[in-house]
Amino acid sequence: MALRVLSIFGTRPEAIKMAPVVQALAGAPGITSLVCVTGQHRQMLDQVLELFAIEPDYDLDLMVPNQTLNGLSARAIAGLDEVLTAASPDRVLVHGDTTTAMAASVAAFHRGIPVGHVEAGLRTYDLARPWPEEFNRRIVDVAADLLFAPTPLSARNLAGERLSGRVIVTGNTVIDALLATRDRIAADAALSARLAERFAFLEPGRRVLLVTGHRRENFGAGFEGICEALARLADRSDIDIVYPVHLNPNVNDPVRSALSGRGNVHLIEPLDYLPFVGLMTRAHAILTDSGGVQEEAPALGKPVLVMRDVTERPEAVEAGTVRLVGTDADRIVRAVSDLWDDEALYRRFAHAANPYGDGKASARIAAALQGEPVDEFAPTREEA
Ligand code: UD1
Ligand code: UDP
Repeated sequence: MALRVLSIFGTRPEAIKMAPVVQALAGAPGITSLVCVTGQHRQMLDQVLELFAIEPDYDLDLMVPNQTLNGLSARAIAGLDEVLTAASPDRVLVHGDTTTAMAASVAAFHRGIPVGHVEAGLRTYDLARPWPEEFNRRIVDVAADLLFAPTPLSARNLAGERLSGRVIVTGNTVIDALLATRDRIAADAALSARLAERFAFLEPGRRVLLVTGHRRENFGAGFEGICEALARLADRSDIDIVYPVHLNPNVNDPVRSALSGRGNVHLIEPLDYLPFVGLMTRAHAILTDSGGVQEEAPALGKPVLVMRDVTERPEAVEAGTVRLVGTDADRIVRAVSDLWDDEALYRRFAHAANPYGDGKASARIAAALQGEPVDEFAPTREEA
């Protein structure tokens, strides 16, 4: 009898990071792969499903404008309970630290269905940062019997917590998605030309600073600092700031009112994953509070300035390609200016490092689910 595996996800980053897993499971002997999306995100989720040709078996279509954490959690647990009954999976897979992941692990646990956690063991050990993600991922790890840790560090975190699940170091599946997408662009000249055309508004003489931001703990004062910094950086004549603005109204409204109308600040809609990878490749540096971008950019050799004070992804900080800069305007302006003005500093920052994965994470997860031996991910000494 084939093992029925139900992958549950709901937001853009979960979809990007679960897409290679869903693809690996689709071809895995002995596995029947099912997909449920909660629709915690809508437009930002759908673009990923389309790119990776994933047709969900279940779609709860939960998103409402400016949803609350409790409202979303309640609707997700109730909706997922019905899906678990209908789909009758032998196990569920969830990803990361979103409300969808937390609710899915609770719903499966209450139904006695084993949970596999992809991207297990990330920690700041500060429940306020990131909020509510640090809480969510710890709940999932308590519920899970299979803990797919992306790196040796995340595996060590789990080992220190006396959890009951088996820990397997797989690498992060985001690197699988990134490398496949980068290669798809590189192999298709017409596609590359279309991407270049799409960003034709960028001035050849200016270097691109790519910005993303959406963390809840940065709402309010944090975003004020970020916008002030971007406004000051826009005074430089050698910078093009491209900012695909997250659709959360707590981000979109303040960012657009603070920064609209400046010629070299390009506030655009969230980009589909493929053009976003193209833009990361084109960028001189990246300023972000995103988890996924912190993992992807080092693999592309792009310096990353992270607008947070702590990170659960310290591996690239240690590898020297990521720096924490917080949300203070002066500090952000100084850090970006240093990268623009100091070529030697830039070159030290801009070396490719891959501490998060080698592109084989999804194959390891599929192998583990098939009961096969797994050759765990081990970063090279320089990257570890
Ligand atoms: C969520 C996750 C966060 C993750 C982020 C990735 C939680 C608590 N937060 O935050 O961990 O890093 O996604 O982007 O799980 N919206 C749209 N269209 C979309 C997506 C969002 O309009 O496609 C708007 C809606 O008004 C929605 C709001 O954004 O209610 C907030 O979405 P939500 O998923 O609750 O929070 P995010 O800030 O996106
Ligand atoms: N991303 C994208 N389009 C964008 C911005 C980001 O496709 O306009 C991708 C990015 O490459 C990464 C993921 O979305 O894989 C990160 O999502 P986000 O920053 O929303 O969430 P986080 O990773 O912080 O949970």
